[in-house]
Amino acid sequence: MPNIVVIGTQWGDEGKGRIVDILSEKVDVVARYQGGNNAGHTIIVDGKTTVLHHIPSGILRQDKISIIGNGVVIDPKFLLEEIDGLRKSGYPVSSANFKISDRTHVIMPYHKLMDKARESQMGNNKIGTTGRGIGPVYEDKVARRGIRVSDLLYPDYFADRLKSIINQKNIYLKNVLGIEPLDFEHIFDDYIEYGKKLNPFITDTSLLLYDLVKQNKAILFEGAQGVMLDVDFGTYPYVTSSNSGAGGVCSGTGISPKIIDTIVGISKAYTTRVGEGPFPSEIKDGFGEVLRKMGNEYGATTGRPRRCGWFDTVSVSYSIKISGISSLMLTKLDVLSDLQTIKICTGYKYKDQVLKDFPSNPNVLSSCKPVYEEVPGWRSELSDINDPSDLPQNLMNYLGKLEDILETQISLISIGPSREQFITLKNGLLN
Ligand code: IMP
Repeated sequence: MPNIVVIGTQWGDEGKGRIVDILSEKVDVVARYQGGNNAGHTIIVDGKTTVLHHIPSGILRQDKISIIGNGVVIDPKFLLEEIDGLRKSGYPVSSANFKISDRTHVIMPYHKLMDKARESQMGNNKIGTTGRGIGPVYEDKVARRGIRVSDLLYPDYFADRLKSIINQKNIYLKNVLGIEPLDFEHIFDDYIEYGKKLNPFITDTSLLLYDLVKQNKAILFEGAQGVMLDVDFGTYPYVTSSNSGAGGVCSGTGISPKIIDTIVGISKAYTTRVGEGPFPSEIKDGFGEVLRKMGNEYGATTGRPRRCGWFDTVSVSYSIKISGISSLMLTKLDVLSDLQTIKICTGYKYKDQVLKDFPSNPNVLSSCKPVYEEVPGWRSELSDINDPSDLPQNLMNYLGKLEDILETQISLISIGPSREQFITLKNGLLN
């Protein structure tokens, strides 16, 4: 198995965790490169559902090393609970199979307070964040006033840094957001404790990855969210605060781009989005609600109902182009099985033009109307199919149409929520 990057091509929730779980059987290492516990990766193994927020999906397989890269942000209390939950469910998590980059930034209590208070102050202009403090922690990283997880291991240094940061934050919290000032001692004690508990996992994962590459170990790099939420290439400002596209892999793990062999894109067979922001192929009539129910489209992190729409080739094509995606894996085909016809968004009508390229300006994007092609549905149950030749012809036509428009092959489809409910279509990575 080559070194592979797995990327979401839409607005997140494409089923990446699920696909990483399938692919991880063939790799030695799974490394996550960005995002934090805003992500929620749902995986069902032997009927048991696990939702992972920080920890790479590789943790569900024995003998794999799971790495949280420096580009990820962690909420230590939440992460410790996640580790605990995995252990209770019978998945071992130890310093042998789980590593955290010493450079990983830590979400502090003020980040969460700031995230929530700002959102409520912004009213109609809110981003619709997960409220986990993701924007503020990345903001502090870039502003050079962040706390990294290894800082928690040096009490004097941490105390010094935290004192000056808390002083600044308290002025902001009180005077701008109208929030009670925070207590240094309390936060310091809690975070020193978290540091002690996380210490066995903390290491320089960039050097670890270098060594693993030298030993010819196969590495899978797992993204969170999707390209449409990438801070540079997504629907800015309605995005997350990190590079969820391929660009984030090297800066988020410390590997050289030369070691990446292939990049795989994950798309849902339709489109969903949580939070605010433009979504040209959103279904705004009652059928959106029907699709939400059929696909059980509720956020794995916040439980919020996801907005639902048709497959959008304009945005996915853009994600493919800027990420160097060589094949696509399509999830949740089974959700569409009852439909008489299925729509595919093939362009955006903007004034008197039809745009085929994804516009960068939010003002243009929010005025775009979807242009659809409609294809017949397959109207048959997929969940028990094992052999690609048993797939209904109309489903193959749907896939063929997407491949033609996207100029990219679809190598795997998922046809049900369980680990084994997928079909490899093309000389896949799984052979
Ligand atoms: P934040 O990442 O919490 O700051 O939220 C910014 C935007 O990204 C919001 O629209 C969120 O709903 C969205 N978002 C963040 N993480 C995920 C995810 O894992 N799946 C889907 N949407 C996400």
